[in-house]
Order: sequence, then structure tokens, then C-alpha cells
Amino acid sequence: MNWKLKAKIQNIISYFPSEFSYNFYYWIQRHFGSLKDFNPINRLSAGMNMYKQVLNLGESGENKIFYEVGTGRAPIAPLAYWLMGAKKTITIDLNPYVKTELITDSLKYIRNNKEEVIKLFGSLLNKDRLDDLIDFTNNMHFTLQKFLDFCSIEYIAPGDASNTNIADNSIDYFTSCAVFEHIERDTLKKIIIEGNRIIKKNGLFINYIDYRDHFSSSDRTISAINFLQYSDDQWKKYADNKYMYMNRLRHDDYINLFRSEGHNILAENTEIDQNSKEILKSKRLKLDEQFKEKLLETLSIRGAMIVSRKLFNE
Ligand SMILES: C[S@@+](CC[C@H](N)C(=O)[O-])C[C@H]1O[C@@H](n2cnc3c(N)ncnc32)[C@H](O)[C@@H]1O
Repeated sequence: MNWKLKAKIQNIISYFPSEFSYNFYYWIQRHFGSLKDFNPINRLSAGMNMYKQVLNLGESGENKIFYEVGTGRAPIAPLAYWLMGAKKTITIDLNPYVKTELITDSLKYIRNNKEEVIKLFGSLLNKDRLDDLIDFTNNMHFTLQKFLDFCSIEYIAPGDASNTNIADNSIDYFTSCAVFEHIERDTLKKIIIEGNRIIKKNGLFINYIDYRDHFSSSDRTISAINFLQYSDDQWKKYADNKYMYMNRLRHDDYINLFRSEGHNILAENTEIDQNSKEILKSKRLKLDEQFKEKLLETLSIRGAMIVSRKLFNE
């Protein structure tokens, strides 16, 4: 779909009263958009990639407490953490977006495609937990709360990650997946400060950030950096609503943000978009002033898994 038309539709829907607006937007996503054929594999895989960052640093996720900012429609990353041995995940979202039907669809998929799930997780899978989950989906009268309890997931929504009731020093791993790009810089700062409060001394922050212009996923005529041509005022006209807000911060901005809150960056795991690189090299896209001084290499990054640790004074 043409991205400007999509932006217009999102802007209009966001003007309706909240409850109607949210339900209608979900209905559209479910029937025509990204939730049409909901399949948990991509999200399980994303959860596994976060978990692997822990292992890459020689640590273990088993019996650890994970925390996720931005649950979204279904707590699939927390499910992945549990399937790999996590003790518990606290997942928080400003909006109570979780849809039970997406969880039941996911569980049905997992039950019917057990071998695919076993292959996906490989040696990271706690097979007993997978078997228990399948038994649970076969036997129990399903409710959202029973599922959350079964997989040791504490779902807080509505809840603001910049100001939680979670105890000091109580989580091992702070995670988010494709969430930070949707939050304003000042709020992100507060979320990191709050994370610094609730994380244990040797805990890790693992955040996957998708830097792409999200409109490019449904409009193939534009590139992942299309939105970098607009000034803030121009961009606000397209995507300043609750469904498509994108802060357009680039990788270097995030690195500076984490560092400014006392973090040591342990891994960046940047992914380069070759098409964006070509466009930038050829100067086909006229960049807005605020992006002109940035390195071509930085602007070509389409996503990154940033792993950091808060430095504590002894
Ligand atoms: C793109 S969605 C999440 C996607 C989800 N992680 C996934 O991979 O499917 C971003 C989520 O972040 C939530 N969010 C935004 N600001 C937040 C905040 N301050 N605290 C907690 N959640 C927030 C939004 O409500 C939204 O559900």
C-alpha cells in the first residue's frame, strides 16, 4: 500500500475515541495487515536471539529474571525465554494490547509444528517445558491468566517502563525488541534510568532497535531510509500518531544515549542495508539537515542489537 495513504488512514483512526480506535486498528491489522496470518516463529526467533546475547557473554539465562519493555500483541519473547529456562519474565506495556486469540493461535501453531520449534531452538530448548506447554494447550480450559502463570510471565499493562513499581536490584536482563524506535528520546532516557534502578549489579541490557522507515515494509517503492529526507515538522504530518510514531534516532544517537546513562557498550551487532548504502553513495536522496553530518555507514544501519551494562561505582 502507498505509504502516504497508509499514514493518512492511521492518522484518521488515531483521532477516534480510544477504545473504538484501538479495536478498529486491531481489526484492520488482523484482517489486512501484519497480524493476518499470525505465526509465532519470527517472534520466538527474536526472543532466542536476545537470549543468545546472554550466552555470547559467557553468562546463563537459566533461572534468571528477564524483563521486557513493550509486550505488544502477544508475549512471545517471554514465552521463548521460558522455553529456554528463564525463571520468570516481567513484561510491561503502556497499552494493554495483548490479544488472547493471538496467543491461542500461537500455541496451536507450536503444538502442530513441534519439530519446527525443536529445530529453531536447538540445544537451547528445555524440551520438558515444551512438552509441558503442549500438554497445557491440550488439556486446560484456556485463559490468558492461566497461560501467563504457566509460563511464569508477569504482564503489567497499562504500565509505563519509565516509572514502574518493580523493586530495586531485582531483574537480571532488561530486553526490548523493536520498541525503542517508537518512543521519544526524553522518555527513552527515563526508561533507561528506571532500568538502571531495577537491574541487578551485573545485569545486562539487550535491546533490538529497528532503524528502518517502517512504512517501507508495506510499500516496496520506498527505501528503508526514505524518512530521512523530511524535517521534523514535515515528518510529524505523516507519523505523529500512536500507531506509527518513529523517533528517527540513528544508531549513534542510541549509543550516546546509553553511554550518557552510565552504560558500557558490550556489543552492537549492527546490520547494514545495502540498498540504503547505495542510495546514500549515489546521493539520490536529499537528506534533511539533521542527518547530513552523519556517517554513511551509520545511516546505512537498518537494525542493531545493542548489549550494554550499567557501570556501578564500587
Ligand atoms: C512495536 S510495539 C511492540 C512490539 C513487540 N515487542 C513485538 O516484537 O511484537 C511497541 C510497544 O511499546 C509499547 N510502549 C511504548 N511506550 C512504552 C512505555 N513507556 N512503557 C512501556 N511500553 C511502551 C507500546 O504500547 C507498544 O505496544
